[in-house]
Amino acid sequence: VEADGTRVFRLRMQEGETEFLASRKTPTWGFNGSYLGPTLRAARGEKVRVDVSNTLPEASTVHWHGMHLPAEADGGPHQTVAPGGTWSPQWTVDQPAATLWYHPHPHGATETHVQRGLAGLFLLDDDRTPAGLPHRYGVDDVPVIVQDVRFDGARLDHGHQIMRNVGFLGDRTMVNGTLDPYFTVRDELVRLRVLNASTARVYTFGFDDDRQFTHIATDGGLLEAPSATTRLRLSPGERAEIVVRMAPGGRTVLRSYPLDAGLDFWNQRFGGGDDTFDILQLRAADTLRPSQPLPDALVRNTLPDGKDSVRERSFDLDLSGINGRKMDMGRVDGTVVRGTAETWTVRNDDGMPHNFHVHEVQFRILDVNGQPPPPHLRGPKDTVFVPSGTTVRLAMRFDGPADPDTPYMYHCHLLYHEDEGMMGQFVVV
Ligand code: C2O
Ligand code: CU
Ligand code: CU
Repeated sequence: VEADGTRVFRLRMQEGETEFLASRKTPTWGFNGSYLGPTLRAARGEKVRVDVSNTLPEASTVHWHGMHLPAEADGGPHQTVAPGGTWSPQWTVDQPAATLWYHPHPHGATETHVQRGLAGLFLLDDDRTPAGLPHRYGVDDVPVIVQDVRFDGARLDHGHQIMRNVGFLGDRTMVNGTLDPYFTVRDELVRLRVLNASTARVYTFGFDDDRQFTHIATDGGLLEAPSATTRLRLSPGERAEIVVRMAPGGRTVLRSYPLDAGLDFWNQRFGGGDDTFDILQLRAADTLRPSQPLPDALVRNTLPDGKDSVRERSFDLDLSGINGRKMDMGRVDGTVVRGTAETWTVRNDDGMPHNFHVHEVQFRILDVNGQPPPPHLRGPKDTVFVPSGTTVRLAMRFDGPADPDTPYMYHCHLLYHEDEGMMGQFVVV
């Protein structure tokens, strides 16, 4: 922390080697290390600055996914950091407590940069979070960064298989860069902050014994009330916080189940929808510390409800481009008036899965195919899964600073699709 109260982080993008498989190293990239990056953490109201340096052989960027911040600090494809270069964005954290993340966003190369290992969590705190939630980092409040990988001998293999038009799909999964992971639980309740950091794979999480767990937060923060469930679907880029109750000496496995995404046989099969993975084993100690009961109410939802939207826009998702247009770095696709709310309708008729992510804002999902969203989609969101044959309506407010010269992005977060041009740009004026 500097004299004026600014909290400063240092992130160095670097090459390295990682031993995922015993005594076999593979080249990887990471932030301040060989794979993934440190968890950054700041509180609402704090001024933050991140000193980013790039020691990679390629230009890259660092984007703060889910963060409300000025466009020039966003780390999208326009804020390139050259090899050997540095970049020091700063902003004031002004949004509710949440599990956000950071990753590169270089135009056309995001998939490989993330796959090589560039990703980390950015946690935000505020003073409205109820006291009863598990909150000891790494003890009863645990990051769970889920990625699918494939090995070719000892090396990470990033190649696309033929027929896989969703992009790269691995044949095994890692949590926080570890294969076959387990976590020893020492408290009755454990909170998992789950990030789908995979580039294309959609997970339907549940436990191997079908136990109930409690969903407490979506991408951008807490739900109004905890919601009990046995399944939770996350597409690439989405986060969820869940709380699991353990019995002394008990074990359970967080699993990913086959996906029902309304796909035809071909896309289901080749989109990875038939796959099952054991993601993370939880092993409870023989004696557990008592946890406080979860509160009945979490936070008040202050997301816009669409009634004061001044403008409607629609977005047709297709691998050939959004609204029929491929991303063009020199073209701004939309201009938004600062301080206003808008309703965005996003439609997928493409026969393959897509999702939709908007920079700078958290939105409310108004409806999914005309129906109110299920409980796990009712909190603040910045990324929404849009399976084939689905239309979602999103309400969002743009209350950051105006900057007519620097665009924010919206895009499909299946990173191969993003790289292929399923992205557009808007400015706030
Ligand atoms: Cu997580 Cu524009 O990205
Ligand atoms: Cu983002
Ligand atoms: Cu897509």
